[in-house]
Amino acid sequence: MQFFLDTGDLNEIKTAHSWGLIDGVTTNPSIVAKTGKDQMTLIREICEIIDGPISAEVIALDAPGMLKEAAELAKINKNVVIKLPMTKDGMIACKKLSADGVKTNVTLIFSANQALLAAKNGATYVSPFIGRLDDVGQTGMDLIAEIRTIFNNYGFETQILAASVRHSEHVKMSALAGADVATIPLKVLEGLFSHPLTKMGLDQFLADHAKSKK
Ligand code: E4P
Repeated sequence: MQFFLDTGDLNEIKTAHSWGLIDGVTTNPSIVAKTGKDQMTLIREICEIIDGPISAEVIALDAPGMLKEAAELAKINKNVVIKLPMTKDGMIACKKLSADGVKTNVTLIFSANQALLAAKNGATYVSPFIGRLDDVGQTGMDLIAEIRTIFNNYGFETQILAASVRHSEHVKMSALAGADVATIPLKVLEGLFSHPLTKMGLDQFLADHAKSKK
């Protein structure tokens, strides 16, 4: 399973990268806005830190506009993945970019049928937003399992990128359900290290070691 970091904060990216755990990065317009930078600059800076898939989202709502933005973004680095919305125009752009060998990430996936459409049009990744489904009283994790079954049934190579991950249970359940990737905020990633028994065990070992030296 791959881990992407879901942020535009360069310090966070450097921190997670130093742990050796990060395979890529995802951004969206809200994440970019928080940094106060323009998207092109931010993506260029992220590409200097991480040598892996970096998702950058188009803003245009029409397919020609999406393709124009995608062409500019793709020029930044071979690792740039074009993030497209799950709309009819997004799917037109997805089909064209896939045919041209450009990697795509179809975002705002909230149903298995949406994921199926994206896979049929050659998406590299689909991003089911599990946390936002939980927020409206649905079980986001069920969606990951449904998409996994459908993709396995038909041999789709589109990767399932679990997004809108809010806590460590989401990571574990995504892994159990067979997501190919989880994109995770730094705080959630940090939480994966911890278990109270690990801390207690280490404290005990260090206390015993201190005694044995006397
Ligand atoms: C991923 O690609 C999305 O940008 C992100 O996971 C959305 O997460 P949120 O629902 O916490 O905003």
